[in-house]
Amino acid sequence: MSVPFDYSGRTVFVAGGTSGINLTVAQAFAEAGAAVAVLSRNPDKVNSAVAAIGETGSPVIGFVGDVRDYDSVAGALAAARHQLGGLDVIISGAAGNFPAAARDMSPRAFAAVVDIDLKGTFNVLRAAHEHLRTPGAAVINISAPQSSIPMELQSHACAAKAGVDMLTRVCALEWGSEGIRVNAVVPGPIAETEGMARLAPTPELSRVVAESVPLGRYGTTREIADCCLWLASPSAAYITGAIIPVDGGWSLGGASQVFTAMRALLTAPRPEVTPEQEGAGAVAAE
Ligand code: HXC
Ligand code: NAP
Repeated sequence: MSVPFDYSGRTVFVAGGTSGINLTVAQAFAEAGAAVAVLSRNPDKVNSAVAAIGETGSPVIGFVGDVRDYDSVAGALAAARHQLGGLDVIISGAAGNFPAAARDMSPRAFAAVVDIDLKGTFNVLRAAHEHLRTPGAAVINISAPQSSIPMELQSHACAAKAGVDMLTRVCALEWGSEGIRVNAVVPGPIAETEGMARLAPTPELSRVVAESVPLGRYGTTREIADCCLWLASPSAAYITGAIIPVDGGWSLGGASQVFTAMRALLTAPRPEVTPEQEGAGAVAAE
């Protein structure tokens, strides 16, 4: 069940808001009454996202742009403010990912992900700042578990999203006195997304991932959107600089995942110890 929030009279800008998690976030804010702007590179995706979000009845505009290009981001944010009014909520969620080992990845490949995820997030926040309606504005960066958990084949995303988390904290420090809250949401593995299609592309890999989540399943895009609706609302007015997992417990990870894998062995009946073995143990202990 979704928690109802009223965003009528508010404006929301979603960078990368034309598919997957970010599109559902944009739709959720529009359903809650907000005027919404989305930006991404592919004009067809922008057009279809605008049409889908428009079905809510709220005002929506779309911009074609690349978060790696500061001028295109700044232009879109200025135009959104001009057309919709001062911005109340910024969601920065554009990202790129593919599985590749560090030793095999070209420098351009590493840079592509860092440039989109980290430098793109800086561009969005830097360009948005002057258009925020303060006090009361909320910025939410869409991070990933890679920001705190080292994962093989993910050196680019781990480095980039760790940077996103730190950028979140620093901007929270710098902008708090202006009444701007800056937080990050960390989705776990989310069903029916491009991200998981790339990182767990077969049913078998999906099953392994789902079983590694303490709650035993993938999350939904709507579950991420619901957290964003709450986090940008007055209900979260005292929360800033927080990195919030919405991941079914996945980020508890590490040792707990190893123990999940070992569970069958650890709980198997103990082999019987013969009197001879007990005696040998007693001698050895002396
Ligand atoms: C190795 C690869 C590669 C791959 C691209 N490259 N794909 N290297 N393995 N699978 C290399 C290219 O060869 C090139 O290097 C460099 O990366 C840049 O590639 P381009 O295609 O020129 O880049 P660009 O058009 O800018 O596209 C960026 C992209 C692309 C990241 C590579 O995949 C993209 O646009 N992705 C956006 C959608 C996406 O990834 N969504 C999922 C987000 S999920 P060379 O040296 O050959 O020139 C996510 C986290 C999920 O972020 C977390 C789940 C838990
Ligand atoms: P997605 O559908 O591929 O969403 C990425 C969005 O960003 C798209 O709208 C894409 O549109 C846009 N984008 C990509 N590169 C861009 C660029 N350079 N400039 C502007 N826009 C760009 O992926 P997703 O799986 O839903 O992931 C969304 C977010 O959630 C990402 O930040 C990701 O790191 C995070 N996340 C996802 C998962 C998961 O399970 N999927 C888990 C943890 C975190 P264009 O192609 O039109 O540019």
